[in-house]
Parts: sequence; structure tokens; C-alpha cells
Amino acid sequence: MASNFRNLEARALDLSSSINCIFGDNGNGKTNLLEIIHYLFEKKSFRKNTGFAQILSMDAEAPEIGIMALLEDDLSQYQCSAKIMGKETNWFFNGEKSKKKINGQIVFINPYDFYSFNNVPSERRDWFDNAFSKLDVLYKKNLSYYQKAIKQKNFLLGNKPNRFQEQVKALNSEIANYGKEIIEKRIELVKSLSPFISKIFKEIYAEEHELLIEIESDFQGLDKHEIFELLENNFEKECIIGKSNKGIHRDDYLLHFDGINSFEFCSLGQQKMSFLSLNFAYIELFRYKLSSYPIVLIDDVSGELDRRRWKNLVSFLEQRDFQVFITTANENFKKELKEIVGANLIYIENGMIKTIQ
Ligand SMILES: Nc1ncnc2c1ncn2[C@@H]1O[C@H](COP(=O)(O)OP(=O)(O)OP(=O)(O)O)[C@@H](O)[C@H]1O
Ligand SMILES: [Mg+2]
Repeated sequence: MASNFRNLEARALDLSSSINCIFGDNGNGKTNLLEIIHYLFEKKSFRKNTGFAQILSMDAEAPEIGIMALLEDDLSQYQCSAKIMGKETNWFFNGEKSKKKINGQIVFINPYDFYSFNNVPSERRDWFDNAFSKLDVLYKKNLSYYQKAIKQKNFLLGNKPNRFQEQVKALNSEIANYGKEIIEKRIELVKSLSPFISKIFKEIYAEEHELLIEIESDFQGLDKHEIFELLENNFEKECIIGKSNKGIHRDDYLLHFDGINSFEFCSLGQQKMSFLSLNFAYIELFRYKLSSYPIVLIDDVSGELDRRRWKNLVSFLEQRDFQVFITTANENFKKELKEIVGANLIYIENGMIKTIQ
């Protein structure tokens, strides 16, 4: 339950540990409800440029948002709440003030990420970096050191680089060391994702089609000295450009749909099914690596998909063990979702919430 959160009424809700379907016409509060769940676990919104001023209800009588949830895992039950007051948020576990993060991670699947994932390589890299960081703390750490070194290098390259050649060399050595760790982990994780993505794509798109994932990098199989040499040989070029243009931060990932590049040749529906397969493959890998499933939020994915794919998606979700929240404003997809036995159905109209278990 939450109070003063956007347009949603303050109301306690019983949620299912498996499938929760959220229905309502455009602009009624479906995504807002997902945003509360995200906020609880990740301590922030998933919407860009969103701060306290945006999430505080326009009708709030005081500048304070409350979120409260009763959480349950196999072993215990506990209460978690947040009091958000502008820049300051107080978190409570079982009534006691605490700074720790709630056990549990979110995977949020939505149309905006889908479009940018397909069209913008840097967004695609961010998607993988963010996903892999959740699976491996060392990956996250190496990535942050790597990004810091690139930032320093760019600063030097943008300011009389010839004067700083030795410093750039030292940074290239650091970048090569971290880069080697990062590319090795990426290759390993992409390899682990492969069987999941191929299997899930057949299940939700069509048995007779194949989706493969591949990493595209100049640094595969190189040791750190070879990476360092490649970076050093690029010094003059980078001096002219004024920033670093070589390194694992320029790597890319490819999805091959029946052997062709999905980003360049596939239809929107095929691209969407590919992106969904990747997300579901990641969820399986997450479980495999961390021994528990994340909570899955799926916002408005029905666009571009035909009836057969909705049906496949619904039966795929029915067979999984994770907790999922799925929204739609589409009447036909809603019909499919309502068929799910035991699903928790949540209807939102103008911020007012009604549930049917
Ligand atoms: N701070 C706020 N206070 C009150 N209402 C807000 C606030 N921020 C957004 N809203 C309202 O919330 C509604 C948007 O909710 P939301 O994005 O959850 O809709 P939705 O049901 O997901 O719609 P769609 O199907 O179009 O995605 C809009 O009517 C918007 O005006
Ligand atoms: Mg929405």
C-alpha cells in the first residue's frame, strides 16, 4: 500500500506470489502501480527524470509519500516501509529504522527499453552491463573502475593530450587490465544465456525459428598486453578525436534471428519477441546464478504482437515460478490474461484499485 503516490489511492492490496495482471485504460495508474513495487525494492523509480516532485500526488496535503508492504519468503515474513520526504527517505524493517536493501531484485520489461535496445547501441550496452552487474559483484566493480579510468583518459585527451602521453599510457594499462576481466565475464555470461534464449524464443515465438546471441568485440581472446598494445597504437587517432574511441566500452551484442541481424532486418513483432526472449533468458540465468528468481514487472508489451504470440506468452508465464506483474490496456490481451487459472486480477480506474483473486 502507498499513500500520496501519484494518482493512486491509498489502499491495501493482496498480491499473488505468482501472476498479477493489472488492467485499466490509458492514463489510469497501471504503470504507477509497477513504479511503487520498483521503488520498494530498488529505492528509486524506473522512469527517467523522475524525482520526488513527480511521484508526489498532485492532491497530497503534505509533502510525504508512504509505502508499506508485508513481504514473505520461504522462511519468514517481514514488514518494510518507506517514508519519502523530498530528498530524505526513511526506511523501516519490522518497524525499526534501517538502511539495508530489501532482499529481492526487480527485472522491469517495458516498451521504451525495447525501442532503445533495438536502435541505440549504447543503450544496448547499458542493458547488458546493468543485467550482468546484478549477477556478478566483481563485474560491477571492474566496470566502475573501468569507466572511471575512461573518464580520466577522456579528460586528458580533451586537454593537450601530447603533454599527458605518459599518464594516458598508465591509464591504458589500467583500462586493459579491467577490460580483460570485463570481456571475459561478458563472453562467459553470453555463453550461459545462449541455451536459454534459444529455447525460450522457440517457446514464445515459434518452434521452427532460431534466435542466437553473440558478442561483437575486437578484444575477444586477447590477453591484457595485447589489449594494451591495441589501445596504445590508437593514441594518435584518439588525440585527434579528443576522446577514447577504442575499448570494451564500444563492444556490442547481436541477436541473430534465423541467421540475420535482428536489429537491422526484423519486423517490430520479431524484435519485440527477441527482446522478451532475452529478458526471460536473463531471468532464468539469474535464478541459475543467484538461486532465486527476481520479481518481474512487465509493462504494456502487447503492442506489435499477434494473438498467437500473446497466447504463447501467457502460457509461458503460466509455467514459470516467478512472481510477475503484467499490465495491459488492450482488451484482447486482457481476455487472454484473464484465462490464467489462479491469477490475481487488478483493475485500476482513475487511480482507484479493485482486485479479484
Ligand atoms: N504526481 C502525480 N499526481 C497525480 N497524478 C499523477 C501524478 N503523476 C502522474 N499522474 C497521473 O497518473 C496517470 C498516469 O498513470 P500511468 O502512467 O500509471 O498510466 P497507465 O495506466 O500506465 O496508462 P498507459 O496505458 O497509457 O500506459 C496520468 O493520468 C497522470 O496524469
Ligand atoms: Mg503505462
